[in-house]
Amino acid sequence: MTAHTISTKPIDGQKAGTSGLRKQTRVFMTPHFLENYVQSILNGIGGAKGKAFVVGGDGRYFNDQAIQVILRMAAANGASEVIVGQNGILSTPAASNLIRIRKTDGGFILSASHNPGGIDADFGLKYNMSNGGPATETVTQAIFEQTTSLTEYQILDAQDVDLSTLGETMLGDMKVTVIDPVADYAKMMGELFDFEAIRALFLSGFRMAFDAMHAVTGPYATTILEGVLGAPKGTVLNGIPSPDFGGGHPDPNPIWAHELMGIMTGHDAPDFGAASDGDGDRNMIVGRGAYVTPSDSLAVIAAHAHLAPGYRNGLSGVARSMPTSGAVDRVAKAKGIPCYETPTGWKFFGTLLDAGKANLCGEESAGTGSDHIREKDGLWAVLMWLNIIATSGHSVAALMDSHWRTYGRNYYSRHDYEAVDSAAAHGLMDHLRAQLASLRGHHVAGLTVTEADEFAYRDPVDDSYTEAQGIRVMFTGGARVVFRLSGTGTQGATIRVYLERVETDPNLLGLKPEDALSDVIAAAQELAQITTRTGRDAPDVIT
Ligand code: G1P
Ligand code: ZN
Repeated sequence: MTAHTISTKPIDGQKAGTSGLRKQTRVFMTPHFLENYVQSILNGIGGAKGKAFVVGGDGRYFNDQAIQVILRMAAANGASEVIVGQNGILSTPAASNLIRIRKTDGGFILSASHNPGGIDADFGLKYNMSNGGPATETVTQAIFEQTTSLTEYQILDAQDVDLSTLGETMLGDMKVTVIDPVADYAKMMGELFDFEAIRALFLSGFRMAFDAMHAVTGPYATTILEGVLGAPKGTVLNGIPSPDFGGGHPDPNPIWAHELMGIMTGHDAPDFGAASDGDGDRNMIVGRGAYVTPSDSLAVIAAHAHLAPGYRNGLSGVARSMPTSGAVDRVAKAKGIPCYETPTGWKFFGTLLDAGKANLCGEESAGTGSDHIREKDGLWAVLMWLNIIATSGHSVAALMDSHWRTYGRNYYSRHDYEAVDSAAAHGLMDHLRAQLASLRGHHVAGLTVTEADEFAYRDPVDDSYTEAQGIRVMFTGGARVVFRLSGTGTQGATIRVYLERVETDPNLLGLKPEDALSDVIAAAQELAQITTRTGRDAPDVIT
């Protein structure tokens, strides 16, 4: 086996977005594209010599081939060991956990999360650091700089490593350890949650449907829910991962998880429904006829986390991304714990979790998690809800009802305009930005603007500063609209419009979100001239 140095040239567009580098699969498959990016990562982190890494992905098309390239390049760059999930499979939370418990220097996670998979869909690669979390802004920037000046990469000339058999092999001078992707993760969940109580719940006849959406959570959910916790066989739906996620869109929200929504609103619906995304870090929670928004889920978990053994001592603080609703803020206030507001993307929670300033965090985009790892964690959220239901004895609907009565209800909705012409999308944001200074006191669609700004964040732990993280307009009475451009799309631009209004009148807690938010929706349209500027008269996706 010989290590080769291959000459290359920088490739445009290798700039990571909200969560690593995401591109169309065919782009990732073009000559040198993957190799350039992997070498840029290795250079950006100060080289691979003597380092150990975790590698695994969500099993989407090109996962297996890309892993072999990463292994050969890690070996040629002098890495000492790579730990790989069997058949190249690792959910994002399981990878984060492995980096932490095996104390590796970092890890490569291959996934485009909830984006569809396949040769004509999307692929992605993300580097996580030794704390198990996504590369910080500083490291991300160092990697990007490498991509713009790279002249060569190192790769070993070798056969593919057999990733189907557990155990250790050598690739040149580097050890490759193939491990069971589920075991360590399942063990950790057993330490955090009251598995006895959840087992008793299933024994009592409690019924659940978990939609793995043909994605990576299938094996994890089957082992934990049906195996360890004794839920009946068939509880996990679409549990076998496939390279194109069964042709679906593995994003756990009422739009893409419509099969599960149909079950949960149908006659004889189970007590509890849940779903996870392509790489297993997102979650959807739904009771019988009762969908729980991710922002509300975060708030309910904040209110009840002490029921789970791993959180018995309460929370040190909570954190949410800026566009996430303020529901969790109200719980934090009542409990007298801090609540941090960060830019979108899990990478901004890492410093807070490492410093112990917060041990629960979440995003409106179906991401919830804690300091057990440094990624959001889909199954963790599902098990937390099961723990809360089992120990409180309340249904999802009852928990939501009492939550809103106690804290008020943050009506919330996100409108996405996808694959919009990039210039039009940036024009819309520029137009909003230009109005910011003069908006205060203005009346828009019957609402009065109290404040308007572009969100910027100074990290309270490492003092790093991040600008241009979304435009927010606040109105009297606690209503708010936020506009931002997605950082994970691979085609054109996606405009996200986040709408919110707080209601504390006990008689008005049961409205449909789109009705409760109608004036905020009208204000957003008027402020941003969405239809005129994008040519769209309705959002593509409402969640
Ligand atoms: C989206 C979500 C964001 C999440 C990210 C990665 O990013 O909005 O909350 O962290 O995916 O899962 P966006 O496309 O909005 O940049
Ligand atoms: Zn994901």
